[in-house]
Amino acid sequence: MTSATRPESAAAVAQVAGYADLAVTLDLVEVRLHDAVSAGPHLLDAAASHLLDAGGKRVRPALTALFASLVGETDPTSAAVVDAAAACELVHIGSLYHDDVVDAAATRRGAPSVNAHWSNVVAVLAGDFLLAQASRLAAGLGAAPAEVLAWTIGRLVEGEVRELELLHDHDAGTDAYMDVIGGKTASLMAAACKLGAMVGGGSDTAIVLAAEYGTELGNVFQIVDDVLDLVGDERDTGKRRGIDLVGGVYTLPTLFALAADDDDVLRKLLAATPTEAQVEDAIDRIVAAGGVDDALAVASERLARCDALLASLDDGGDSAARSALERLARYVVDRVR
Ligand code: FPP
Ligand code: MG
Repeated sequence: MTSATRPESAAAVAQVAGYADLAVTLDLVEVRLHDAVSAGPHLLDAAASHLLDAGGKRVRPALTALFASLVGETDPTSAAVVDAAAACELVHIGSLYHDDVVDAAATRRGAPSVNAHWSNVVAVLAGDFLLAQASRLAAGLGAAPAEVLAWTIGRLVEGEVRELELLHDHDAGTDAYMDVIGGKTASLMAAACKLGAMVGGGSDTAIVLAAEYGTELGNVFQIVDDVLDLVGDERDTGKRRGIDLVGGVYTLPTLFALAADDDDVLRKLLAATPTEAQVEDAIDRIVAAGGVDDALAVASERLARCDALLASLDDGGDSAARSALERLARYVVDRVR
């Protein structure tokens, strides 16, 4: 077993949640993650551990652990909870490796992306390796959790492909956007919560509610992330502002502004590959048109639904885990403020 410490950002999440057992589980998840990535040849090790070491909030493992507690798991060292949480994080990181190849991203979490540091080939293979390790952990949990994870990986790919289909489409519309993020982000958040409820021994009702909660929180998370792409501080996001616009990815704030773009000025600005000045101009116009405010209003609505779902989930577990989940969800939204 390797020794491993949680990145600072993950420690912050445990602190935000204010739930003592969470830190215990997340420390074990970190060890499991490092064991999983150090099982291959040296180059694979180095590439697969690159993003783990660069940081990350470990939001998905935190969701798995908290849902397990919420439905009645009392042991923060439960191997099933740790394995389920690590499997979700490995799928997440693996998908980011592939995503950075798709986006030709130069940086991730403030560090050079794997594709930039090594090559696209290494990034794809390291991503594959992480998915394989996630599948092994899920298989150890039984057929039902393994099925959840396999289905989720398929949904991630569908979401990503849908996003590719909609590139540069000014008229994609908000329903299509919700479809994209439902696949590429919400599905894995849903799996993290659902697996927590499953391995924690929750009832069928609790498992369904957990998945619905994760879906809504995933929607909120991605909307906030997309707002941050436009108006976030580059030192916090670790990415260049407006990178989505450069790539022709029109997210919720942009789609709201495009729907109100009666004089076609925004459409023209985004016509070809926009220059840095055009991107800045486009961002100003999206903000002025109320696109960011409207997107954040949708995020708030979805967050209220998360609270309602959580309130309806009473499976006899630790109610402190419910408060921790509420704080974690607020933290996701407050990143933008
Ligand atoms: C980041 O979104 C990307 C995702 C949430 C999912 C990526 C999924 C794939 C590449 C499909 C393949 C997945 C697997 C599991 C094989 P983003 O581009 O909006 O965020 P970013 O700005 O952080 O890159
Ligand atoms: Mg990306």
